[in-house]
Amino acid sequence: MKTLVTGGAGYIGSVTTRLLLEAGHEVTVYDSLAQGHRAAVSDGARLIVADLGDADRLDRAFRAGRFEAVLHFAGLIRVPESVEDPARYFDHNVARGINLLNACARHDVGRFVFSSTAAVYGAPDKVPITEDAPLLPASPYGDTKRVFEELLLSYERACGLRTARLRYFNVCGAHAGLGEDHRPESHLIPLILFAALGREREFHIFGDDYDTRDGTCVRDYLHVADLGRAHLLALDALDRGGLLYNLGSGAGYTVREVFAAAEEVLGRKLPCKVSPRRPGDPPALIASSARIERELGWRREKDDIKQMIADAWEFHRAHPTGYPD
Ligand code: UFG
Repeated sequence: MKTLVTGGAGYIGSVTTRLLLEAGHEVTVYDSLAQGHRAAVSDGARLIVADLGDADRLDRAFRAGRFEAVLHFAGLIRVPESVEDPARYFDHNVARGINLLNACARHDVGRFVFSSTAAVYGAPDKVPITEDAPLLPASPYGDTKRVFEELLLSYERACGLRTARLRYFNVCGAHAGLGEDHRPESHLIPLILFAALGREREFHIFGDDYDTRDGTCVRDYLHVADLGRAHLLALDALDRGGLLYNLGSGAGYTVREVFAAAEEVLGRKLPCKVSPRRPGDPPALIASSARIERELGWRREKDDIKQMIADAWEFHRAHPTGYPD
């Protein structure tokens, strides 16, 4: 299939691009490189360096590329930043996304796979979380994703686009030399590994007074390659639209458990201290991914947290200061 991957120079987009190429798809990456990295774009993919805000550039890309499918990863992802500057988040994650949807409508693209997030659920009472849980985002970031999900349904009704909304939980690990390089980094596993590399003096546990088994937050960690494979399954299933899936592993690990697993993988003690809670962190988020397992036959190949950390470590050791600029 001729595919357009927005944000294909970012973490999840770059891994999914690699898997699409391996499966024989033709891939054009559309990325401004504001967050993404040129070095993360696989050979074999065409790269257009441009912003989704540039509707004319998008239109030209669609005219030349004759895309049959779009996978939309581009967007801003930092929860605290979205609280400080919500307008910027609505601009990037909603307004610019509408340019992309309009290009799809004008150029008769049938399939659209969207990177959504567990943040649409906020802090739910019940875990594991199923797709029919109420949507109560606790941040403008989560709200931008919720709004865009709504828009997708409107475009399905009005323009015949067939869409898959994939709600990711905590994505980690690395695949085929492609890993996580956010600047600044805010995610748990990279920051533990930065402490191991000496990029950070120590690792900070954000709060140990939550109502969980050891007082630290519980999250559901999913290997990025398993997540990438879910995109390929969703793409193939888009003969019909309205697909909506949670993507996690169904298992929850506390921050302390992930930290201890990292120490085991690295075979040494790492510097760590307990700091105050990070505002807005829900105590526990665990996905039920039963629906995508049942409907699309999705199976995780890398469920072991130590394997996920080992793969991330391999990437960070190979790129101790991140991708080259
Ligand atoms: N944490 C620490 N120390 C750190 C970094 C993180 O203790 O240095 C803790 C956090 O407080 C949280 C857990 O580790 O309890 C995981 O934090 P991450 O920042 O790695 O991930 P989040 O669960 O906050 O966020 C992830 C995605 C978001 C998405 C959210 C959905 O990164 O994009 O899940 O809930 F919105």
